Amino acid sequence: MKTAPRSSIRDLDLEGRYLFLRVDFNVPLKGGRVMDDTRIQSVLPTIQLALQKKARIVLASHLGRPDGKRQEEFSLRPIAHHLSLLVQQDVAFAEDCVGTQVEEKVQALQPGQVLLLENLRFHEGETANDPEFSRRLCEWAQEYVNDAFGTAHRAHASTVGVPQRLGKGAAGLLMEKELESLSRVLSNPEHPVVAILGGAKTSDKIEVIENFLSFTDTILLGGGMAFTFLRARGEEVGKSIVERDKIGVARELIQSAGSRQVSLKLPVDHVIAEKCEPGLETRVVEEAIPANWMGLDIGPRTVQEFGEEVGRARTIIWNGPLGVFEIDEFASGTLEMARLVAGSDAFSVVGGGDSVAAVRKAELQDQITHLSTGGGACLEFLAGKSLPGVEVLTRRGV
Ligand code: 3PG
Repeated sequence: MKTAPRSSIRDLDLEGRYLFLRVDFNVPLKGGRVMDDTRIQSVLPTIQLALQKKARIVLASHLGRPDGKRQEEFSLRPIAHHLSLLVQQDVAFAEDCVGTQVEEKVQALQPGQVLLLENLRFHEGETANDPEFSRRLCEWAQEYVNDAFGTAHRAHASTVGVPQRLGKGAAGLLMEKELESLSRVLSNPEHPVVAILGGAKTSDKIEVIENFLSFTDTILLGGGMAFTFLRARGEEVGKSIVERDKIGVARELIQSAGSRQVSLKLPVDHVIAEKCEPGLETRVVEEAIPANWMGLDIGPRTVQEFGEEVGRARTIIWNGPLGVFEIDEFASGTLEMARLVAGSDAFSVVGGGDSVAAVRKAELQDQITHLSTGGGACLEFLAGKSLPGVEVLTRRGV
């Protein structure tokens, strides 16, 4: 997991070569328009390097979960147009990712030209990592580069089957940057290390917390998941979300933090409302949350306490929002925390779609050392798991 990929796109001689470039263009679309192009922007350095090296570039990605069937709403066609504006040159589009038409379009590519294939997941073989589908996908390919960090936790045809079949694979520049930044947090970080964890579900973060107990000094918990931990401490949380079957695990994690001398801090006050909706009366409470109310953001005292920890940190890792930041009334805890992390001179990494969106909403993206493009991939990496799409690039003789 923490080893560097064995080969980098930088080392490849790509002149005139047919390059299979796996990217993660799983971005939000509305009415055929790209709503957030962070993931597309993030792979531009790799595409530009491949252009400079005069590769014949074939981009492959998934979009959404179309269950192995062609569904127009998951077509990558709008992204070809969006990308052509960003790279300021034509980006050709193939209506499928395998078959004769693809072969023809690939063969027509000149060095320095780009072709985007249609959604890989229009075929069941992609997620099933079917060997025959992998064979068809890369019949024409001479080189393979994976820059799809966001999909590296999936053992799919395009992330594992193809590099195995070709017997080679290199990391793109985004993949390298993601692995370097996240590894710097996990291995030999500068102390104090402060982790901020939020999000709705405790179950998503249990393995991350377990792993974090081995190297962090302080863990600050907020978001919906904090209520399961508060319940584990016997506190009244009203009708806040609680994962009842995880209360026992939460109790064990609190004890384990104590015995490993990791300071695990929970919110000391909350912004509450009767429902998770905009425009309702809100209150701040420091004690028990009343029966018909629910906690939807951390309160100002918590922001101050968490902020003091962030101020002392030399390394900060943040994953998951601390409240329902999409609703203005419950956004201030998360946005304040984004300001505090941005204002710190620690090495800071923010991962997970929602926390990254919060940093962008506060327009602080340039003041964070690294914003990860991974959701599930980032969480699995932080939980100490190895990512199949990275493993295949590091293993000898792929
Ligand atoms: C993501 O958005 O996290 C990646 O693109 C992976 O998507 P998936 O969870 O549908 O495999």
